This record gives sequence, C-alpha cells and structure tokens, in this order.
Amino acid sequence: MTVLTAGAGGGSLGVMSDPSGAETFRAPAEAYDLNIGRYGRELARALMAAAGVRPGERALDVGCGPGALTTELAALLGAGRVAAADPSVPFAEACRARVPGARVEVAPAEALPFEDGAFDHALAQLVVNFMSDAAAGVREMARVTRAGGVVSAAVWDYAEEMTLLRRFWDAAVALDPAAADRDEGGMPFCAPGPLGDLWSGAGLAGVDVSPAVVSAGYDGFADLWRGLEGGVGPAGAYATSLPPDGRARLAAELRRRLGAGDAPFRLTARAWIVTGRVP
Ligand SMILES: C[S@@+](CC[C@H](N)C(=O)[O-])C[C@H]1O[C@@H](n2cnc3c(N)ncnc32)[C@H](O)[C@@H]1O
Repeated sequence: MTVLTAGAGGGSLGVMSDPSGAETFRAPAEAYDLNIGRYGRELARALMAAAGVRPGERALDVGCGPGALTTELAALLGAGRVAAADPSVPFAEACRARVPGARVEVAPAEALPFEDGAFDHALAQLVVNFMSDAAAGVREMARVTRAGGVVSAAVWDYAEEMTLLRRFWDAAVALDPAAADRDEGGMPFCAPGPLGDLWSGAGLAGVDVSPAVVSAGYDGFADLWRGLEGGVGPAGAYATSLPPDGRARLAAELRRRLGAGDAPFRLTARAWIVTGRVP
C-alpha cells in the first residue's frame, strides 16, 4: 500500500473568489463521507487530544458536519454532555441521527444558541475558513466556554501538505489557470501565524498552534474520484462544475500527479491545530 504526501511547494496559489464556500456543504452527508469525511475521525481524536478533552467535561462541536468529531466526543464524554451546531440542514440532521442523545442545532458559529460558559470545550474541525466572519465565530466559541475552558480548532494545511486537496488544485490550475481563484490554498487561516492571531484576537490566552498528520485509505483512484464527484466542498463543487470532457481531463491529471492507480493506497493530510484558554 502506497502512502503519498504532498510535500512543500505546491504550485501557484490564488485567492478564493468566494471567501467562504460554505454553500458547498448543503449536500448529502454520504457524499461528504466519501470525500473529506474519510479523514474526520482520526483528525477528531488528534484535536481532542490537543485540546485536552477529559471524561466528565462538556463539549460543543461547532460546524459539526455529519458528525465525525461529535461521534468521538460522545464516545469519550457520553452523548448527553455533547452539543453540536452546523448551518447545513442535511449535515445537522445526519449528525443528530448518528449521535442520538447529543443536542444538535442548525446554527452558524457566529450566532451560537447556547448560554454563556455552558461548555468546558468549544471545538471546530475544518470550519474556521468557512465561517462568514471568523473573528465573530471564534468570539462566540469563547463566549459559550467557561473561564479556564479551551477553545480549539483544526484547519487543513491547504497550501502545502493536505495531499488530496493540494494535488487537486495543482491539477485544476494546470489545466485551467482561472481555477486559481478557487484554490483552497488561498484560504485565510491555513498557516500557524494567521490562525494563532485569530485566536489571540478573540482574547484567548496561552495560544498554541501545532501540526497533526492524519491519513485516509482509498481502494484505488476510482474510489478517490467518486468522492469528488459527490460535489461537496470547494473541490467537489469545482469538479462537478466542469463539462464531462473537462472532468475527465482533470481526473487524469490528478491521477498522474498522485501517481495513483487501481491498487489501494493511502494519502496523508497535515492539519494545524490551535488551542487557547478563556481567561
Ligand atoms: C469541511 S466541513 C467540516 C465538517 C466537520 N466538522 C468535519 O470535520 O467533518 C465544513 C463545515 O462547516 C460548516 N459551516 C459553514 N459555514 C459555517 C459557519 N458560519 N459556522 C459554522 N459552521 C459552518 C459547513 O456546513 C460544514 O459542515
């Protein structure tokens, strides 16, 4: 089984034309599961470890999607001590069905329907870059966390070592330079500096940013491409916006850049994890 990594120097990076891309997650949960969802449970465990989530605590999963982190939190804390929120109705419904007993709300990070200081932890996995106002979203996460509690998040290292998305956008831009505007490497919070500044700017103390490398398995390239054809997230939405011949060219270019064939392989993905305490 091959393990492919993105390495540094992933090609030219553009600025997202739609700075959020949040609407690309109004999609069936199963489509998300086949794409980025493959990495979710392992990343959730890394995020929880970095945040120091312990049995007996209460936690909120902000931007829960179909529930990868909510599931892991419920396994550790019990569903009754876990709440979750996401503005995507299909994702919130999937999370509610997958984690019975957890309180799951349809709401954005910027307006969380929870009391001040209700949680020991507020966590956001792969969400900060999709908030319409990230500073307001992180301030809300801090508001609903008790003094001394921890606010944390994980974001992909889109510009360099999130192998799938880095190779995808490199392939897309090579074939269509205009795709640079949609390259997720242009996301505002995908490097330690801007992420740490966002946390400090929200008044959080003891801010730390550290890397976590996770991986996902694929049966072969067709299995990977099926995930993108679900149309979820900025990459899936771009792939499915192409006509059939353009889509086939993109698939071939991505396959070539990944060096992937019909045999099983794994891809690594680096995330940055930020933590900070409510003063
Ligand atoms: C890449 S998915 C991550 C989902 C989930 N946390 C996971 O790790 O699988 C991004 C999520 O952010 C959600 N989202 C978009 N805008 C948001 C906002 N303003 N506040 C909170 N979540 C938002 C999307 O609906 C989507 O579920």
